[in-house]
Amino acid sequence: MSTHSYLSELFSLDGRTALVTGGSSGIGRAIATALARAGARTVLMARGKEELAATADALTAEGCQVGWVSADLSTRPGVHAAAEEAVALVGEPDILVNSAGINLRPPMDELDEEVWDRTMAVNLTAPYLLGRRFGPGMAERGYGRIIHISSQQAHRAFVRSGAYGVSKGGLESLARSQAEAWSSAGVTCNTLVPGFVLTRLNARLAGDPATVDALAARTMVGRNGLPEDFASAAVFLAGPGSGYVTGQSIFVDGGFSVH
Ligand SMILES: NC(=O)c1ccc[n+]([C@@H]2O[C@H](COP(=O)([O-])OP(=O)(O)OC[C@H]3O[C@@H](n4cnc5c(N)ncnc54)[C@H](OP(=O)(O)O)[C@@H]3O)[C@@H](O)[C@H]2O)c1
Repeated sequence: MSTHSYLSELFSLDGRTALVTGGSSGIGRAIATALARAGARTVLMARGKEELAATADALTAEGCQVGWVSADLSTRPGVHAAAEEAVALVGEPDILVNSAGINLRPPMDELDEEVWDRTMAVNLTAPYLLGRRFGPGMAERGYGRIIHISSQQAHRAFVRSGAYGVSKGGLESLARSQAEAWSSAGVTCNTLVPGFVLTRLNARLAGDPATVDALAARTMVGRNGLPEDFASAAVFLAGPGSGYVTGQSIFVDGGFSVH
């Protein structure tokens, strides 16, 4: 067997379909890029049309098959409608990546109900609704991969975890519940846990180099994360070779969490 065909057997996503929320920016964009390059017909889902089109166009120019759906995942009707639009583009997804997320960081005393509700809606309810919509079909077809993106703050209080940390803790529990429900039918459900990655989500910190450096120093590798650091972990979790890995929270954080 050639090296190429052996690697394909483990990791190829040829013939698969993928939906990546938050696929227009940061970690989600890097993951969507990786899945599309590994062969999956991929749909990106987020609000901003310009970023969606730019990401899809760049990948299409490389020969990947990529479409996009503009949707606001903070409302339940928005999620339901967007799911059907994605199906219209590529059919039922075999791979669902929930990377869309928001981190509003009011101090606990000022954390009002609107921030709480919006955080839960985007970070937790949308992944639940998309899992509910697509998980049973994956189980019926005998193959599925659900990948959530959580946070250090699911595991420790850290820089005003507030509602965000709660939503991410719930997301990791959701992965375990989904894994319990569908793994025996070939649908694995896992979470990738980033450390600190300088993206739009925390762009505010770019102007605070001392904090950025202090965060890098807390890792073992000695640098903060890059969106590209998630590419191979996502391809692994999306592909055929990870069929016995389920319900797990996998830290891609340069050792941040164990230092
Ligand atoms: N960066 C980090 O250090 C870090 C650390 C731990 C965890 N994470 C998690 O990683 C995931 C990706 O974050 P990132 O750092 O890559 O941030 P990012 O660059 O800001 O990307 C967030 C994505 O979510 C989309 N999104 C936000 N609100 C949405 C809504 N209401 N409806 C639909 N899409 C929405 C955004 O597009 P639109 O704004 O156009 O909608 C964008 O595509 C998040 O779940 C985040 O919590 C990040």
